[in-house]
Amino acid sequence: MDNLIDLIRSAEKNKVCIGHFNVSDSIVLKAIFESAKELTVPVIIGTSEGEAGFIGRDLASAMVQRLRSENKFPIFLNSDHTHSLEEVKKAVDAGYDAIIFDASKLSFEENIKQTKDAVEYIKSKSENILVEGELGYLGDSSKLLKELPKNLAINSEDLTKPEEAAIFVKETKIDLFAPAVGSMHGMLMLADKEGKANSVPRPLNIKRISEIKNTVKTPLVLHGGSGTSDEDFVAAIDAGINIIHINTEIRVAWKNALESSLLTNKDEIAPYKILKPSFEGVKSVVKSRLQLFNKLV
Ligand code: G3H
Ligand code: ZN
Repeated sequence: MDNLIDLIRSAEKNKVCIGHFNVSDSIVLKAIFESAKELTVPVIIGTSEGEAGFIGRDLASAMVQRLRSENKFPIFLNSDHTHSLEEVKKAVDAGYDAIIFDASKLSFEENIKQTKDAVEYIKSKSENILVEGELGYLGDSSKLLKELPKNLAINSEDLTKPEEAAIFVKETKIDLFAPAVGSMHGMLMLADKEGKANSVPRPLNIKRISEIKNTVKTPLVLHGGSGTSDEDFVAAIDAGINIIHINTEIRVAWKNALESSLLTNKDEIAPYKILKPSFEGVKSVVKSRLQLFNKLV
């Protein structure tokens, strides 16, 4: 089976994209795995520090490795937005396939310094673990938001600059690069005339993606995928994005299905029955995103 970097490079060559989806339990993991398996496309599972703290890094790693070996299927585990060397060490010890070292809130110089240290540490433990670095502010967490986060990179002067991207990638020696190109973590929900909250898509700066790609020539990762329009996703992939992260959309599908499951079956107490609609809801979101990312529709 191909390793993760080979799969990313082949996605890059074929102008398709690998989907990255977050989990904090085995049910969402199974839903993502089944979606990818039905479409026979590679997939990356992510755990943020919070999600990893809930599920446990060893358990997450054991499950993903087992799904991979038992099914001979390209499913990989990424330590998403890892902010400290201490958490990096835990991810390395647990056997993660990739780690995002996220010092994006620090100054440009400090981000380079800390990311470089993280790369050196990770590669000293295993050359096979991929390391991603992030430059630019994308908001904080995968939530439903009533307003845009302060300091979010929106205008072209706030987005990641190709010249800085080039220095960052060269100095840190990262394998994968996450720039700020207009997306953000979470989904902006605004009320319409009837008072119903609707997602307001975040426009991506496709030109900036192309400029960065032409400058750094490193696989690019788009964070904050939830709430992006299909047209922007396709254009972003054509412009050089190779991995797309989706989390909020999964959380929304999971919670909405759980709420209606509890309301419609008030006497039910079996978790596997209560959670079945959440499993199906997540599976359907992931499947439609994977179809789009892999140009299967
Ligand atoms: O790392 C996780 C993602 O970037 C998810 O962002 O919740 O906006 O889909 P999202
Ligand atoms: Zn992210």
